[in-house]
Amino acid sequence: MSEKIKVLLSEEEVDSRIRQIAAKISKDYAGKNLLLVSILKGSVVFMADLMRAVQIPCAIDFMVVASYGGANTSSTGLVKIIKDLDGDLSGKDVLIVEDILDTGVTLSKLVPMLKMRNPNSVKICTILDKPSRRKADIAPDYEGFAVPDEFVVGYGLDYDEKYRNLPYIGVLKPSVYEK
Ligand code: IMP
Ligand code: MG
Repeated sequence: MSEKIKVLLSEEEVDSRIRQIAAKISKDYAGKNLLLVSILKGSVVFMADLMRAVQIPCAIDFMVVASYGGANTSSTGLVKIIKDLDGDLSGKDVLIVEDILDTGVTLSKLVPMLKMRNPNSVKICTILDKPSRRKADIAPDYEGFAVPDEFVVGYGLDYDEKYRNLPYIGVLKPSVYEK
């Protein structure tokens, strides 16, 4: 497995960055009604680490979405909810937990959908950000690392459902997906 992957961010680097993000979240959301919303499946590892590092009371929920419309259709792309949240959002301070903000199309559609449910606030926390690929006008409120325009895997992120279980974040050698 490892000869196909170049380590980009080690377990230790990811861990220490999460502690910084969680400290900031704990401060910013003190006294609020924090709800962490994990977008499955990619954010599951980040969610598990982030929620344990957050030092204020919070609730969690999970959502599965699929984005349609293709890469060049940021204005018309649709997001379909495959699995909705279990709870309602009224009065909640929603923090969306994502693996990577890439084109931004998915979250640019999802955020307004969640805002219609009467939450106090909706913000975005992503472990990775690929700003060079952005097509939608959206930015994370909390981010772990900006990464170059390369395909990354591990720490929840997959290529064809593989590599999610790697404890570090790596770049998949193009020979793997160009075959
Ligand atoms: P977007 O921001 O709407 O383009 O889509 C983001 C989603 O695409 C993420 O939540 C990931 O599941 C997936 N994705 C984007 N870039 C990568 C990558 O480099 N590796 C693995 N998954 C990716
Ligand atoms: Mg994915």
